[in-house]
Amino acid sequence: MSKIPLVAANCRFESETTSVSSVVRTDITFVIDVQNITKRYGHHTAIDRVTFSVAKGEVLAFLGPNGAGKTTTMRILTCFMPATEGHARVAGFDCTDQPLDVKRQIGYLPETPPVYQELTVTEYLTFVGRLRGMTGQTLTAAFDRTIGRLELGAVRHRLIGNLSRGYRQRVGLAQALLHDPPVLILDEPTVGLDPKQIIEIRELIKSLAGSHSVILSTHILPEATAVCQRVVIINKGRIVAEDTPEQLSARLRHSEKVSITLKAVPSDCEMKLRAIPGILNVLPGQAGGSFLLECELGRDLRDEIARLVVSSHWGLLELRTISMTLEDVFLQLTRHEDHLAEPAEAMVSAPAEQTDA
Ligand SMILES: Nc1ncnc2c1ncn2[C@@H]1O[C@H](COP(=O)(O)OP(=O)(O)OP(=O)(O)O)[C@@H](O)[C@H]1O
Ligand SMILES: [Mg+2]
Repeated sequence: MSKIPLVAANCRFESETTSVSSVVRTDITFVIDVQNITKRYGHHTAIDRVTFSVAKGEVLAFLGPNGAGKTTTMRILTCFMPATEGHARVAGFDCTDQPLDVKRQIGYLPETPPVYQELTVTEYLTFVGRLRGMTGQTLTAAFDRTIGRLELGAVRHRLIGNLSRGYRQRVGLAQALLHDPPVLILDEPTVGLDPKQIIEIRELIKSLAGSHSVILSTHILPEATAVCQRVVIINKGRIVAEDTPEQLSARLRHSEKVSITLKAVPSDCEMKLRAIPGILNVLPGQAGGSFLLECELGRDLRDEIARLVVSSHWGLLELRTISMTLEDVFLQLTRHEDHLAEPAEAMVSAPAEQTDA
C-alpha cells in the first residue's frame, strides 16, 4: 500500500486509530439541515440562498438541469469546499466548523468516482476501509458485505482502470457504502450504468431508506419518482419547488384531464362534449377518434362523459384520466425565467415527519 498516493480521494479521512462514527448527536431534528447557503465563484452565483432539510431515513432527490447547482450543494455538504454564506449541518455538525465530524457521518459518491485506476477493486476498498479506520474482522466484514451488495465479486481482483464505466461507478458506490454511514450523498449515482444495473442500484438505494438519510442528484425524472419520498427542484442556483412527487403534480395542475377514444366521430361530437357542465376545453388527441377533455379542477366528469358517449352510440374504446407527470412539473418550473425572479415559496412545504431522533 506504500505506493498509493495519499491524496484525499474527495475528502480527508481520519486516521486508522479513530473509530468510524465516534460521536453521534441524538439531539437533532434533521440529519441534513441547510440554511440559506450561497456559493459565489467570483461574480458568478452558483447557488443562491438554498434552504432544505432531510429527516432520518428519508431519501431526497435533488433534481435540476445542467448547471443548476446540484454538485455545488453536495460539495458544501461533504465539506469539499465552504459556502460563501449560510450554514449547512450534517448529523448536527457544522460543515464549516466541524468537517471531520461531518465526514465521519457520510458516504459520498462524487460526480466522478474517486477511484485509483492502478489498484484492484480489493486493494482499493481495503485502502478506503483503512482510511475510514477499519481493520481486521471489521474491515473484512464490511468488505464482504459491500462486495456482495454491489455484486463486485467477479471483478474483485481486476484493476479498476480496466473495468467498464458501469463497474467503476459501482466501485465508487462501494467506497461510499463501505463504512455503512448514516448519511449518503450520491451525485448522479446511476450515470453510466446499464438498465439492469440502474434497477439494481435503485433497489439498493430504496433498501437504505428508513435506516439511512440519502440525497441523490439526478436529471432522470423516473429515478426521482421511483426512489425518493421527496423532491427538491433546483434551477439556476435557486430552489423552485420542494415536495413529494405526487403533491408537486397536484399543486401545479390547473385542470383535470380526461382522454377518450371513440369508434365513430360524428360532426356534432365535439360540440356535445363541450356542452357537458364542467368541461373547459375539448382538444383533438394524437390518434384518430381520440380527444383530450380539460375539466374544471377538482371535478371528476368521467361518469357524465361515459354516459353521453354510450347514449350517443359513438362507441367508447377508451376513457382514462391523465395525470401530470413529474416531467411536466419539472418543465413547467424550469422553463420560465419568471420563476427565478420569485422562488416558488408556495411550492415549498414542510419536510416529511422525522421518524427518529
Ligand atoms: N469551480 C468553479 N468555478 C466557477 N464556476 C463553477 C465552478 N464549479 C461550478 N461552477 C458553476 O456553478 C454552477 C453550478 O454548477 P454545478 O456543477 O453545481 O451544477 P450541476 O447542477 O451539478 O450540473 P450538472 O447537472 O451538469 O452536473 C454552474 O454555472 C457552473 O458553471
Ligand atoms: Mg453536477
